[in-house]
This record gives sequence, structure tokens and C-alpha cells, in this order.
Amino acid sequence: MKIIVLNRVFTNDLLLWHLKENKRQMPWKGEKNPYKIWLSEIILQQTRVEQGWQYYQKFVKHYPTILMLANAKEDEVYKLWEGLGYYSRCRNLIATAKYIAFECYGIFPERYEDIVKLKGVGPYTAAAIASFAFNAPYAVVDGNVTRVLARYFGITKAIDSTEGKKIFAALAQDLLDKTKPALYNQAIMDFGATVCKPLQPLCTGCLLQTNCKAFAKDKVKEWPVKEKKILKTQRRFYFIIAEYKAAIYITKRSAKDIWHNLHQFILIETNSKVPVSVLLTSKEFKNIFKEKYTVLDISAFYKQQLTHQSIDGCFIHLKLHKKLDIKGYSLLSKKTVAQLAFPKFINSYLHNSKLLLPS
Ligand code: ADE
Ligand code: SF4
Repeated sequence: MKIIVLNRVFTNDLLLWHLKENKRQMPWKGEKNPYKIWLSEIILQQTRVEQGWQYYQKFVKHYPTILMLANAKEDEVYKLWEGLGYYSRCRNLIATAKYIAFECYGIFPERYEDIVKLKGVGPYTAAAIASFAFNAPYAVVDGNVTRVLARYFGITKAIDSTEGKKIFAALAQDLLDKTKPALYNQAIMDFGATVCKPLQPLCTGCLLQTNCKAFAKDKVKEWPVKEKKILKTQRRFYFIIAEYKAAIYITKRSAKDIWHNLHQFILIETNSKVPVSVLLTSKEFKNIFKEKYTVLDISAFYKQQLTHQSIDGCFIHLKLHKKLDIKGYSLLSKKTVAQLAFPKFINSYLHNSKLLLPS
């Protein structure tokens, strides 16, 4: 009985906070167009609001309707997505736009069961779209939400355990105000992101503090409890910028790997960090670069952290005296190369080296 009452108190106080104190403004807030909501939610899946904001506006401007996105050139869409990371999102975005435009008469599905089947849409995104666009009673559950609930209700089951996930999903659905799903979902997202933040939550002055278990037991720093630590794979990428008469060898990444559909230079991946002098004498390198070349530049080491991988490596700029005999690569002018989408790792180098700037 007590728990049920506390559930209602939580929902009431959260909505009160939303209406009285939530100052967060975002371009998609209050949006009712399912296409735009879907677009914003895909962008926000693994991207912070501050970064996603400008990408959302760029996309809406370029493609005001799902039909325009569906008809766009894929490379142009990737170029617009460049810098956002997690490129499978972009691939799914294009596939879903085409599916809705060409197989659903351009009409966005309205039922949760149909929305959740769309490529790139999981339960969280489906709940967001169904509630924001169609006011359907589906509670969003993500890291933000489970953190708020774990703290407020003092739930110490690991948020990433199978059992924990079930508990949090059921609780979230019970807490949802079924008469105002859109309002409630936006409230809990914003509350988690701006008040009950992962680090340094604003407990002082928090409207939910009176009934918050974590606050009462001084456990705010310890909760939520997590089971697993992500183990990262270390990878070493040596990119070789092979330049022949102001043109460069480029390929599009197509393997089942990170950065799918983005472009890159000739790549040699090694198991460990090796000095460039060693790399230049390796079998793999000599197999590609059989003829004479001049080393123009060797970059500093670059690093990039992905969720499951840690990448480091460097860039070796070569001037070729002859064309290469190499499969899967195109020799492209710098001007053409500048139009292509690259992973952030390569873009950092391109920015620093000014390689593509007209000389
Ligand atoms: N994160 C995911 N969706 C969001 C939304 N609609 N508002 C704020 N943050 C979000
Ligand atoms: Fe979160 Fe602190 Fe508010 Fe509790 S008091 S809900 S831990 S911000």
C-alpha cells in the first residue's frame, strides 16, 4: 500500500517539477510530427543534447519531410551525419526513411508494436515516438530513467542485470501518468539530465528530495548499482595517405566493423603499438608499397575512445612516384576527398594537417 502511494507521489512531484521548474529548451520539445520526433530520438540515442541539437536542425532543414530524406543521396546523408558517431544509426535512418516513404505511403506507423519494429528503433525510442507523437501510454526507460528510479526508490538491483531491467521497466511503466504520457516522459528525461544527473546531482533544492531514499541514506553517489564494467578492445590503426599527383588513395569501409560506410586511407592495423620505422619495413607495408616513395610526414599519435573500443594510431603521408597496384581503393582528387564522410579519428588529423586545404 505504502509503495503504491509513493509511486503516485513520485509522479505528481515529477510533473510538478516539470511544470514549475523545468527550464530546459530543445528544438524538438513539444514537437508532434512523428518524422521529426523519430529523427531527434535517433540522433539522441548516443549523443548529448548539446551536440545533437545542431545536427537535428541541419537534418530538418535539409530534409523537411521523410520523403525528402528517403530520396536523398546516401553519401550526402552520411556527410550530414559526419561527427555524430555510431554510424549504424545513419544506415538505419536511411533504411527506415525509405521503408516508410516507399512501403507505407509515407505514413509513419502509429502503433507502438509497429514503431518498435522499425530498423534502429528499440523500446526506448519507440516509447518516445509513441508517446510524443501519438500520446500512447508507453514509459521511456534508459540510463537516465533507471538512475532516477534507483535513487528515489532505493533500488539496489543492478540496472544492467536481467532481473534489474525487468524491475525498472515495470516500475517505470507503473509510474507513467497514462493521461499525459508525452508530458511525463519529457519530464523524467529532463529531470534525469538536468537535476538527478550521474555526477553531482542537484539534491539541494531538488523538489523530490523529501521522499528520495538515496538522499535519506546518503547513497546518491553509490546508486544506481551497476554489474558490469565495459572491457575495451585496444586497436592500432596506421593510416597511410598515399598521394600520387595531388590525388589520394581512398576506400569506403564496408566490413562488419566500426565506421561502416565512412571513408579512410590505406589502413594497416597491428596488434600492438609499433614504431613507424618498424611498420615501414613490415611485410604488409612492403606488399602494398613496392615501388619508390618519399615520406612527407609522420603525424603524432591520435587516440579515440568508442564505447567498446579504444583506438590509437597515426598517419603516414607518402608521395608516390608510381601508381599502386591495389584493389578496393580509388585514387581521388583532394577536392573530391573533401566531400567524403570520414570517422572523427581521421577528421582530427585532416583538420590539424590541413592536407585537404587548397595549396
Ligand atoms: N534524450 C532522448 N530523447 C530526448 C528528448 N526527447 N529530450 C531530451 N533528451 C532526450
Ligand atoms: Fe536525485 Fe538527489 Fe533529487 Fe534524490 S534528491 S531525486 S538523488 S537529485
